Amino acid sequence: MPGLVLGTRMEQAIMSDWTPVAGLRIAIDGPSGSGKGTVAKLVGEALALPVLDTGLLYRFLGWLSSERQADIADENAVLKLLHHVISDIEWRAEGIFFENRDCTALLRGEDVGASASKVAAMPQVRHVLLELQRKLSGQGCVMDGRDIGTVVLPEAEAKFFLTASQRERARRRWAQLNQGDSEVSLQQIVEDLKTRDARDSGRECSPLEKAKDAIQIDSTTLRIDEVVDRVLAVLERRALIKRV
Ligand code: DC
Repeated sequence: MPGLVLGTRMEQAIMSDWTPVAGLRIAIDGPSGSGKGTVAKLVGEALALPVLDTGLLYRFLGWLSSERQADIADENAVLKLLHHVISDIEWRAEGIFFENRDCTALLRGEDVGASASKVAAMPQVRHVLLELQRKLSGQGCVMDGRDIGTVVLPEAEAKFFLTASQRERARRRWAQLNQGDSEVSLQQIVEDLKTRDARDSGRECSPLEKAKDAIQIDSTTLRIDEVVDRVLAVLERRALIKRV
């Protein structure tokens, strides 16, 4: 089993204004650019819970497939690569470490996102990564992705599904990428987003889908802190968290 690392509850609890019930698992799903990653991070910080970005696992495998020249159209080739490297992957709340190197920054680009979306459509790959995700959720966490509420943690105590208009999601992604030295046009992002949305929602295995018991939040016109406040308000109302 690859390295699985989480900080201890004692270390994390020092900084929080809230106390979550023991083992609280919060699933946050949504399409690219819906804000789920940022919301997950802020909710995790507010509750002193580890935040696990499951997209990084698919991004890592997409990235490694090109690095090691595995044919990304061939599920068996990608699966073989995954089995070969799995014991060297450390998935931490801070990111992905491979062969003791932090790879997280390498995984954020648009090209890696496109490869990730292809490997994420492979049922056997998802099966292997599913085990990893469940294993880490045990002590309580905020986990974000596409199928957390439906497949990975169907028994999660709280589930949220974030949405935003396609235009707004593309604008956010564009702004994020243009903070770096990327020169991707907004139109290019809109096109990429449409392709990824179609692939993530249309695939047979674990498509992007709102769990029946998830609370949907449309963040198109909301600031990030307003979304976080709504999430915390729901958790407090359900007695899943308490102010310290
Ligand atoms: O959230 P992200 O952009 O980092 O995700 C990268 C890709 O991985 C995206 O195409 C969707 C896919 N993914 C998935 O299928 N299931 C998850 N739980 C998380 C991400």
